[in-house]
Amino acid sequence: MAESRFLIVAVDGGAASGKSSTSRAISERFGLLHVDTGSFYRAVTFKLLELGVAPDDPSAVETALARLRPGTRVEGRSARMEIDGWTPGDEIRSARVNDNVSRFAALPVVRRFLLDYQRGQADVARRHGFEGLVMEGRDIGSVIFPDADLRIFLEASSAARAARRAAEGHVDQIHERDRLDTQRKTAPLVCPVGAVPIDSTHLSLSEVVDRVATLVRSKLGT
Ligand code: C5P
Repeated sequence: MAESRFLIVAVDGGAASGKSSTSRAISERFGLLHVDTGSFYRAVTFKLLELGVAPDDPSAVETALARLRPGTRVEGRSARMEIDGWTPGDEIRSARVNDNVSRFAALPVVRRFLLDYQRGQADVARRHGFEGLVMEGRDIGSVIFPDADLRIFLEASSAARAARRAAEGHVDQIHERDRLDTQRKTAPLVCPVGAVPIDSTHLSLSEVVDRVATLVRSKLGT
């Protein structure tokens, strides 16, 4: 009997480009585990700040990271990071985390800490009986899963993205985070080679999801 195929979909894009809503919908349509890697960087940022560590002190960051033990809990269709028994909640969306996350994420030591953990989400998905995973972030199609079956790069105008964050009631430094994420040396935000760019400025969420779903189906041959 032919083994059913394990599908990896990589969704990258700048802050508030619609990655989470799109990825969540795709995970539901195709039975994929949804992995929001931004929440991993946010959780690590929260922990480091709580430990009194600053992003301008990489050696203190490295020492603190060596003591953290990340795990994964699957809730519904989503992978949630746990650190030493703590499951991050809304606190990782705070203005303080928004202000610091891209500074920590620019540090190679932080990216190394999360590299294998993120790749390991494929095993988590298999163990939990998912058909594959949809992982969203900044370097998924370029660094984490460069051989992903499908790579999507979401874009939207600054005004559309700012309006989305405001509608969610969050204070966010979208432009400053994008600037830092695009300009960092390690794993910068780029449109990955072979990715399909989708500009969602004038599209509704369901139109974006339909476009991605069509691409997924063509990969599945269905
Ligand atoms: O996706 P979200 O906006 O929640 O991500 C928060 C921050 O985490 C980003 O601005 C970026 O600095 C960092 N990040 C990253 N690489 C990823 C996912 C997120 O550097 N794959």
